[in-house]
Amino acid sequence: MKNLDQYRLQIGSKEYIPIMIGGMGVDISTPTMALEGARLGGIAHLSDALICAVSDRYFKTSFVKDRFAKYKGSAHLSNKSFAQFDLQDVVQATRNLVSNTMEKKQGPGDIFINLMEKLTMNNPRETLHARLIGALDGGIDGISLGAGLHLGSFDLIKDHPRFRDVKLGIIVSSQRALRLFLKRTVKLKRHPDFIVVEGPLAGGHLGFGMDDWFKYDLKTITLEVMEFLKKESLTIPVIPAGGIFTGSDAVKMMEIGASGVQVATRFTVTKESGLPDKAKQAYFEAREEDIIVNGVSPTGYPMRMLAQSPCIGAGTKPNCESMGYILDRDGVCSYIEAYRQAKESQPDHISINDKTCLCTQMRSYNTWTCGHLTSRLKETSHRNEDGIYQQLTVEEVFNDYRYNTEL
Ligand SMILES: Cc1cc2nc3c(=O)[nH]c(=O)nc-3n(C[C@H](O)[C@H](O)[C@H](O)COP(=O)(O)O)c2cc1C
Repeated sequence: MKNLDQYRLQIGSKEYIPIMIGGMGVDISTPTMALEGARLGGIAHLSDALICAVSDRYFKTSFVKDRFAKYKGSAHLSNKSFAQFDLQDVVQATRNLVSNTMEKKQGPGDIFINLMEKLTMNNPRETLHARLIGALDGGIDGISLGAGLHLGSFDLIKDHPRFRDVKLGIIVSSQRALRLFLKRTVKLKRHPDFIVVEGPLAGGHLGFGMDDWFKYDLKTITLEVMEFLKKESLTIPVIPAGGIFTGSDAVKMMEIGASGVQVATRFTVTKESGLPDKAKQAYFEAREEDIIVNGVSPTGYPMRMLAQSPCIGAGTKPNCESMGYILDRDGVCSYIEAYRQAKESQPDHISINDKTCLCTQMRSYNTWTCGHLTSRLKETSHRNEDGIYQQLTVEEVFNDYRYNTEL
């Protein structure tokens, strides 16, 4: 039986082990994880989620504190359009994370950053631009754009000196989304360098409806995307993602013509993952019925998470003066209204089940987002006598995908 090591992923002129570790916010796919993925010859992602808070955590900057000091006087207002991000701070925070990681990079692989367009940050276009510039200036090898794909995102950086050499990819969940995006890039004569096709079993937010995600399957969507590219005479590497749990699953994707695979769930419980140990153990212990897709994310996208996530039912006070990553261009986040209503109806003990304060809850690792196959993680580890599951390293999981033909 073939193993994944018999294949290579080619993007531009560069070859990789065909394993891409997907972006996992907030700081679950840490710089340490990304450095390991690159050292081993694959591609691994940083994440731009809550970038200013992440910069504060690693580099002792004070972006969150400063923003709060600036806006706290207006915290009583429910419309938060006043709470704009300082674009220079956003550039700087992104550059801090990227350049600091890139300085340490070793080995034949690459480090990319996942930029999420659903992080509208009260000013979608300009804050996305700032994150793109910060990443490019920081020396990132590649960028994957997704989560609410903004059709004009390539235009935002068309004048940057690295526009044609950095590897730019997009994450889509349908051939239709890809077609719309390519219409725009034709004009720039700059197609994506790779396409991640994210199916319905992925972790994080989903590009499918809450009531119909289970009707789709990754293999079919991947084949549709490849068929479309063939018809258009476009040669762009296609990288399926979502539910590829073993090396054999990955080989099956390579056999239908994929160029590589993007994986994440197996890496959530590695030593290098940013999740706290408590959450890692909850992932290991998860049963199939614990893994749910719900609508608590104020982004409006369905999200997969463990039913035990501490964020569900929490009544956190909105914190947009220091966070505010989900605020739309009009200064609105649907959690603010959910909180207002809950406060009116239950002033003594606020508990909100249908929405969550995503920034605050993700920042403190209380939203246990996960892939559909999380309940299989226990098969990959050993449980100690004290009941604790052992964590593997990124290298062990990476090599398991690369060489193992059994699991
Ligand atoms: C904990 C977790 C967090 C994730 N966060 C993000 C994210 O911030 N942005 C994104 O584009 N995808 C995110 N994803 C999706 C992954 O990057 C990846 O495409 C997908 O989960 C792969 O499927 P798998 O988890 O079944 O291997 C996340 C996945 C997980 C498991």
